[in-house]
Amino acid sequence: MNDTQIALEVRDVHKAFGEKKVHSGVSFELHQGEILGLFGGSGTGKSVMLREIIGLEKPDQGSILFEGRDLTTLTEWELFPVRTKISYVFQNGALFDSLSVEENLAYPLREHTKLSEDEIHAKVERMLELIDMKNSNHLLPAELSGGMQKRAGLARAIILEPKVILFDEPTAGLDPLNTKRLLDNIKKLKERGMTGIFVTHDIPSAFEISDRIAIIYQGKIHVIDTVENIKRSKDPLVQSFVSGAHS
Ligand SMILES: Nc1ncnc2c1ncn2[C@@H]1O[C@H](COP(=O)(O)OP(=O)(O)O)[C@@H](O)[C@H]1O
Ligand SMILES: [Mg+2]
Repeated sequence: MNDTQIALEVRDVHKAFGEKKVHSGVSFELHQGEILGLFGGSGTGKSVMLREIIGLEKPDQGSILFEGRDLTTLTEWELFPVRTKISYVFQNGALFDSLSVEENLAYPLREHTKLSEDEIHAKVERMLELIDMKNSNHLLPAELSGGMQKRAGLARAIILEPKVILFDEPTAGLDPLNTKRLLDNIKKLKERGMTGIFVTHDIPSAFEISDRIAIIYQGKIHVIDTVENIKRSKDPLVQSFVSGAHS
């Protein structure tokens, strides 16, 4: 794999909250075009890792390299454009309650682009089609099912066509049908070249859409390998995750 391009690199990240050490030297590379599944027990710092990557949390030590810059050194002002390229899909979709689906999706376009109203509308329409929510433009978040809220949240997170998408437990709380719909949406994005990190306790879903899996344990990346190698690993810790005993 000599031609593997690195989309993002996390290098020796340390992070503690008071006495509580969360990361004690986390390092990994995210390849261009891959989905990296990230497993770890509850409270092992998966969400904190994603927040560090988009700069909502600063590591105490270490670097996060993206497009030739160390994101940990950037100011809020410098991070603003970075957040159009690295997007975070919040657990519940995090839609604005008082805005319709269309207004929710249009929001990042109004905030970050100079597109005309017609162009914004056309883009929102295309996005709604992608997530199987055509004709939902005028609904309010409260009028959507949980599955639709998550898909609308996904659509809003990707409408600026980010290079890297961070998913924090996107299938949590979804029934099998809605899980499948969401995974199908993510697969479509992957076919278009999306790169992403998929944090989850949902091992079957992660195996289905990931290229590689990383397991975070005791503040470090315990293992990072292809889905096939993870599945046939003899390492007891890896096996406990694969069998679902460790979530
Ligand atoms: N802002 C914060 N202040 C203090 N402790 C935090 C903060 N954010 C996360 N933590 C702690 O860091 C640990 C890792 O949290 P988190 O990344 O949310 O875990 P998970 O792997 O379940 O996503 C937890 O013990 C959590 O309580
Ligand atoms: Mg979490």
